[in-house]
Amino acid sequence: GAVVALVPAAGRGVRLGESVPKAFVPIGGSPMVRYAVEGLIASGAVDRIIVMVPAEFVESAVALLPPSDSVHVVVGGAERIDSVRAGLAAAPEAAYYLVHDAARALTPPDLIARVVTELRAGHLAVVPALPVADTIKSVDAAGAVTGTPDRAGLRAIQTPQGFAAGLLRSAYLAEGVQATDDAGLVELLGAQVRTIPGDPLAFKITTPLDLVLADAVLDGASA
Ligand code: C5P
Repeated sequence: GAVVALVPAAGRGVRLGESVPKAFVPIGGSPMVRYAVEGLIASGAVDRIIVMVPAEFVESAVALLPPSDSVHVVVGGAERIDSVRAGLAAAPEAAYYLVHDAARALTPPDLIARVVTELRAGHLAVVPALPVADTIKSVDAAGAVTGTPDRAGLRAIQTPQGFAAGLLRSAYLAEGVQATDDAGLVELLGAQVRTIPGDPLAFKITTPLDLVLADAVLDGASA
């Protein structure tokens, strides 16, 4: 069955403090969405790639992405969930979906291939996970600590997140649902989500410090 990667790249990226949408901010001289797409191609595990961008960035996205019959650009939505929905609509043929943030531009192709291997082995939902370095606390609206979950049982979750196509489509059929990642929607259906070891290089480029780190990683890679 076909593996289709959906790449949400329609965020405005206010936290980065840049004037262009986050996915179009350059690292090492090229927009991060380009690295994300090149990584998916390099994995050798993906048949088609749908990139969701803000409406006014469709043309520039087409121009900057690797010219390929298997890379398509569509208009995203107001929220990430709307952008993924637009991607699902553009790829009805998928047997498996990967959802992969453009902002995780430096994700090693090997990690992408490992997610697909787990899907093909029959796991319906697969996410990369790393142990957390910080202690995580819950707080109330006033900022007072309400709890400290045992760190040993916590993981930071990355992308690509892989799903059997029918499961992800079902998760997105529900109206008005909220989740900060795609696996969260699938969990609401009661489905089992499998974790596999993530990779520090799959970090999400979110803050100005992350941009410095991404540039340094690319600089080191080309030295
Ligand atoms: O804002 P955040 O870092 O959570 O965004 C994660 C990814 O989702 C980014 O690649 C961003 O471009 C994408 N996104 C999107 N459509 C939105 C909001 C975010 O495709 N409306």
